[in-house]
Amino acid sequence: MTVDTYRPRRSVLYMPASNERALAKIGSLACDAVIIDLEDGVAPAGKVLARDRVADVLAARPERRCEMVVRINPLASEWGIDDLLAVAKAEPDGILLPKIGTPRDILEAGDLLDDNFALDTVKLWAMIETPKALLNIGAIAELGRDPASRLACFVAGTNDLVKATGISTDRRYLMPWLLQLVLAARVGGLDVIDGVANDFRDLDGFARECVEAAAMGFDGKSLIHPNQIEPANRAFAPSPEALARARAIRDAFARPENAGKSVIALDGRMVERLHLAEAEKLLAKAAIIGA
Ligand code: COA
Ligand code: MG
Repeated sequence: MTVDTYRPRRSVLYMPASNERALAKIGSLACDAVIIDLEDGVAPAGKVLARDRVADVLAARPERRCEMVVRINPLASEWGIDDLLAVAKAEPDGILLPKIGTPRDILEAGDLLDDNFALDTVKLWAMIETPKALLNIGAIAELGRDPASRLACFVAGTNDLVKATGISTDRRYLMPWLLQLVLAARVGGLDVIDGVANDFRDLDGFARECVEAAAMGFDGKSLIHPNQIEPANRAFAPSPEALARARAIRDAFARPENAGKSVIALDGRMVERLHLAEAEKLLAKAAIIGA
């Protein structure tokens, strides 16, 4: 994602489409994105009603303060295609596809959108939560290089990965897969959001998990409770120390004696032009988040 198209996705809050009290809070929450959920957060008997409510919520949103994404049911399920068409009509910012396994699953959703709607503003987000998606992650990510695919963002589905593989819930065991996911997202120029922390009362543990996820390269964290927004926003924003360092690098390269140099020394460390590019990107991101 280039700086000029950067939009923060530090805090991505799920809310079941069946929970009216949660939906009513959307305009007042400081999260960067919400995912209104029609899939696992809604019981089968409530799916159709919830789908209709999503259209109302999208139509009623006051202003696009946060990105509005809707997680639909799998296209192969009895609700999937109707979900996709009804939700796309209401023009969310994104539609999140669960349980995908192959690039074909993304292309199929994109084709349905292209065939039924003139607008191409609705992006596709993909849950990475099946062993098959992890094995195919490179090919899926490559779709991100083609804007026609609409693919914009990966969301790690850690609970489903644990369920499908039988590994422990201890994040140590998930690490190789999560890092592979970050790597693939960079190949595709995609954003990538870490999975949820189920223990929503343990905010200290949650804050530590966010700091770790930011260090792993994730752009943000999936949230299940409003109390998790602030720690996520803090952890995924550039720190004051990182900003001070970025300003120092920018200022150093701007000095006349360093004009045209590709490598300089700054406070006893080697700094290259690639660090200048990184510093400029960080400062631009901070300006967008600040605004
Ligand atoms: N989005 C928006 N508001 C939320 C919210 C969410 N995800 N989770 C809780 N709230 C609201 C509650 O509605 C409540 O406000 P109210 O008193 O006006 O109703 C307030 O925050 C405090 O809620 P609290 O009592 O602490 O939590 P809870 O016990 O009602 O709910 C959960 C706990 C986990 C059931 C709930 O947070 C939730 O449903 N989270 C999302 C789960 C989900 O979407 N899962 C699928 C994807 S993994
Ligand atoms: Mg899931």
